[in-house]
Amino acid sequence: MRRKIIAGNWKMNLTLPEAKAIASGLKEKVSSQTAVEVMVFPSALHLHAVAEILSGSPVITGAQNAYPAVLTAMTGEICPAQLSDFGIKTILVGHSERRQFLGETSEICNEKIKFFLNSGVRVVYCIGETLAERESQNTFTVLKDQIKKGLFGIESAKFKDLVIAYEPVWAIGTGKVATPEQAEEAHAFVRKEIGALFVGADKVAESIQILYGGSVKPDNIASLLAKPNIDGGLVGGASQKLDSFLGLIK
Ligand code: PGA
Repeated sequence: MRRKIIAGNWKMNLTLPEAKAIASGLKEKVSSQTAVEVMVFPSALHLHAVAEILSGSPVITGAQNAYPAVLTAMTGEICPAQLSDFGIKTILVGHSERRQFLGETSEICNEKIKFFLNSGVRVVYCIGETLAERESQNTFTVLKDQIKKGLFGIESAKFKDLVIAYEPVWAIGTGKVATPEQAEEAHAFVRKEIGALFVGADKVAESIQILYGGSVKPDNIASLLAKPNIDGGLVGGASQKLDSFLGLIK
């Protein structure tokens, strides 16, 4: 059985007091009895404070990005060794905003994923097609490419620390959610492609958690999670208010 995950991506939103308030609310309401696994990805500046509030809670604090190297000369970046000072062992890779606006390619994602997994970090790897790619019937070509390049050369034993997030770019922050059928079709395809990555990958594909992202809200999450291949949500807007975040978890 794949455990469901509700992950909140706070992006470059929220002030420190706002982030701390949501973290405190999550700490109070999420317990070891909570059925789903809960993750939050605050701004790098807020990681320390949020991780401190959530220490001792099952809620996982993760970083939105990191650089794939050990402590070294790399101005402006942060690395897993520094994150681990705060107990942070989960990192998002390849979010579409980074792909679109910061030039992050699937090859760069591959370098990060490999380095992070080898550093004992859990990775949430984001993939998804743009509206133009969907309209030109290229959704599956794009997803296949992002999977093949992003996951190239990763050993089967490392897949236990990997989560995939399928986030159609046209659904992110637009209020236009994919229908449960559209999402399920993409998730089933992604699972099948992971199963074809190497000999014996079918077992890995069966157990990997695949989250849906893109305008997930408390009122549409249940119909998405009802689909057999959708194992949770990566949520932007609706995770940035305590009430709606708790609504998603419920
Ligand atoms: P959204 O963002 O829920 O605001 O659409 C999702 C994401 O970008 O992870």
